[in-house]
Formats: sequence, C-alpha cells, structure tokens
Amino acid sequence: MNREKLFNKMKKFPKVDLHRHLEGSISPQTFIKTAEKYGGKLPTHDLEKLKPLIQVQNDPPGFENFLSKFDLFRGFYSVINSVENIAFTAVKEAAEDGVKYLELRYSPTHFSSNGRFSESEVIECIQGAIDRASSRFDIIVTPILTISRDYGVDLAEQTLGLIEKMPKGFVYGLDIAGDEVKNSAKPFADLFDRAKKSGLGLTIHAGEACGAANVREAVVDFHADRIGHGISSVEDESVMKLLCEKNIMLEVCPTSNFYTGVVPSIKNHPIKKLMETGVPVSLNTDDPAILATTLTDEYVAAVSELGFDENDLKVLNQAAIEHVFYPDKEKLKNMLLHYWD
Ligand code: HPA
Ligand code: ZN
Repeated sequence: MNREKLFNKMKKFPKVDLHRHLEGSISPQTFIKTAEKYGGKLPTHDLEKLKPLIQVQNDPPGFENFLSKFDLFRGFYSVINSVENIAFTAVKEAAEDGVKYLELRYSPTHFSSNGRFSESEVIECIQGAIDRASSRFDIIVTPILTISRDYGVDLAEQTLGLIEKMPKGFVYGLDIAGDEVKNSAKPFADLFDRAKKSGLGLTIHAGEACGAANVREAVVDFHADRIGHGISSVEDESVMKLLCEKNIMLEVCPTSNFYTGVVPSIKNHPIKKLMETGVPVSLNTDDPAILATTLTDEYVAAVSELGFDENDLKVLNQAAIEHVFYPDKEKLKNMLLHYWD
C-alpha cells in the first residue's frame, strides 16, 4: 500500500490516545491565530520562523532540547479566552484525526504562569472548552491534570489541593511530567499518596530518559496505574514481569522517543518486544504539535516501520480502553469497543 493510501486508512481507523499534553498540542498556526485574535506575545508572527522555536523536527534529538520547547509559551496566555481557544482547537484537531477517546493532560501551573489568571480559572476554562468541543465533535475527552517535577513540590501541592477541593467527578487523573534526569520523583511521594487516596488515577513519566529502576520505583513506591513512556523497562526482565503482574500500562509515544533521543530510530523502538513480552502498552502522541506528528502518523509509522498489522492496532486500542481513567469503564466500553470488533 502506498503511503497516501495507508495514511488515509489510518486516519479513518478509530483511535485512542491516553498520553497527550495540551501544552504540546498547539500548532504554530494556532499560536499565530490565537495571538492575532486575543493578544499574547510571540517572538515572531512569521510561521516559518516560529516553527523551529516550538518544533523539534530540524534539531538533533535530545531530551533537554525537547523540554525547552515548552518554555517559550509559558508566558503567552494574556487572556483566559486564548486558553479556551487553544484547548477547543486541540480537541477539534484530535477528532479530525480520528481520535475517538482522548485523555488530554495539562498543567494548570503552565497556563497560569504569567499571573494573569489563577489555576482554578484555567481548570474551569479548559473544562468548558473540552465540553464545548466534545459536544460538537465525535470524541470523548477525559482531562488529566499534570504536575511538573520542574516546578517543585509547592506548586504541585497547590494543584493537587485544588483538585481535592473540586466537586467529585471533575478530574479523574494526575500525571507527573518534567525532567526525569534532573528532578527525581521522590519528593512528590506524599502527593502521589494523597492523589491515590482521593481516588485519582495516577500516571508517572518514568523510564523515558532514565532507566528501568525509575519504572520500578513508580510502580512499587508510588503505586502508579500507568507509566508515561516507560520504555527502558525493556532493559530489565524483572521490571517487565512486574508490569505484567500488576497490569500496569506503558503509554508509548514512538515519535517522541525518537526526538528526545531515547531511541535511535522508530525501527529500533522496543514497543513490539514489550507487547510480545505481555506488557500492556498503548500507542500515543505525547506532544503532537512540538513533534509535528498526529496519532495517524504514529499508526502509519507503526505499520511501515515496525510491521504492525491491523490486528495489532486493534489490540492496542482494546488494551488502552482497559486502562482509561474515565470513571465508568463499562459505559465507555459499550460506547467504543464496537470500533475494534
Ligand atoms: N517527558 C517529560 N515531560 C514532558 C513530556 C515528556 O515526554 N512531554 C511533556 N512534558
Ligand atoms: Zn508526556
């Protein structure tokens, strides 16, 4: 099958994305349009000059460089409507890409870091955008709140405190992201404990730029339900066994792993080996705009670079549905599993 045919087929294929950051889902085009409509300072309004500032495509692969792409836009959001606009657009674009179920994560701290609005305003606004977009498009969206290792424990505690005060049924999951190399997850241990006690699903970025020991720690010490990336588990049989026994899903994002420099090429990605070993895995985008990818592109790469067939893709989606943070899994299964019968 030629690439165009395969792309069209994969675009139509109903897909689940459990690991996508809103911060990394805003295309250069959307930034420019949002700035023109709502204000917000951009280093340039020239699309071709903006692209390399927020996308990694032409850079040598590297974790620090990838993370640096988020810095530029922390202070961008000058009015809350610009946050609404980018969140709505991110959901719309996911739906247009054939994503039927999306867990969209974001850090309220990131969006409120210019101090012009509070984290609770951010949460309320993004929820409104998600509701508006998902009532208009054929997609179900569950928000996950992200805390960052890089912002420190106090800010993370502030975000978790907000979640704890919210009415039940507002937020279902907590994620920890940021620089795994520089900042250990250990200082956040009490927060993970509190999150679990509040009934939140817990996903921890681990074993991405560091080794399998971080995956073990996330599972054994912090009781993560899912792991963001976690691909270094492949280096340690006992960690893979642990993931199988405890049924912990790795949220795998191949293009991200390439641009962060943790795999040398998609062809060499360990997702197939992990699957064959029985480790629960799903296929996701991470930061589609920063990585200039879509979930369709990830599926095309899975087929053309990794030899996945349609059945493998069905299995990945069925497995993802088993690990969602959506509160009523049976209801969700009734709504979605028919896609992969
Ligand atoms: N790793 C760590 N932090 C992140 C990532 C990631 O892949 N994406 C967005 N924030
Ligand atoms: Zn991520």
